[in-house]
Amino acid sequence: MALPFFKKKNSQPPQAESRVLIPETLPQHVGFIMDGNGRWATKRGMPRRFGHREGAKNFRDLSLYCREIGIPNASFYVFSTENWKRPQDEIDAIMDLFWDYLCDADQYLDRCVRMIFIGDRSRLQDRLQKRMQELEESSRDFEKMNLILAINYGGRDEICHAAQQIAQKAQDGILRPDEITEQTIADHLYTAGLPDVDLLIRPSGELRLSNYLIWQCAYAEYYFTDVLWPDFNADKLNTALADFANRGRRFGGI
Ligand code: FPP
Repeated sequence: MALPFFKKKNSQPPQAESRVLIPETLPQHVGFIMDGNGRWATKRGMPRRFGHREGAKNFRDLSLYCREIGIPNASFYVFSTENWKRPQDEIDAIMDLFWDYLCDADQYLDRCVRMIFIGDRSRLQDRLQKRMQELEESSRDFEKMNLILAINYGGRDEICHAAQQIAQKAQDGILRPDEITEQTIADHLYTAGLPDVDLLIRPSGELRLSNYLIWQCAYAEYYFTDVLWPDFNADKLNTALADFANRGRRFGGI
């Protein structure tokens, strides 16, 4: 049975200015670093948590928009392993927004979107861990888009975690050290089975990766813009996609 994509009026995807997107030129995986929420709020004389609230709204809009235009994998950096250094009230505000999203994610999203969470969940509240698992299980067979949320995620932490698992297999005699390949490592990352990042978008003017998908971005094209995340709308994404379509990718070849 065909299921409606947009179930609620308020979950319509944003309308972007008309621009022709050629499906063959779309990246298979777009990674988003949702930076600039704090500055967005401070510029308006508001507490930083208002910026995160606007950032979360924008995340909802853009994830739906990615699905609508046919991006097969979209990943979003929600909270890093380093973000625990922030003041507790800001951490609580982000976790509350994340919880709100998890609570209405299944009505908000088309059933054909698969939800995948990457990162170390052990430090998250039990209610978050439980709901994340429910959403992953209930969307496991959906194939329209993978929506990947990185929470308590760090690229170095992920590689460390993979190394521990591989070392354990070597110790147990399941794997010989000389059998370890790049693919072995990729298969032990949180993103096992997902394609590498083709296009990494970081708004807010910062020109760095900040420990996001550092293995998977080895051959990513980077797109940086001064626009702050809450203002990075569908039209701005279209501009980034058009820019990506014109990049010459050689993957080390000529
Ligand atoms: C970086 O901006 C943003 C974060 C560390 C948190 C991102 C969180 C959200 C967008 C909201 C929650 C998400 C979901 C999925 C509900 P910053 O705070 O470093 O901004 P600044 O650089 O201007 O200070």
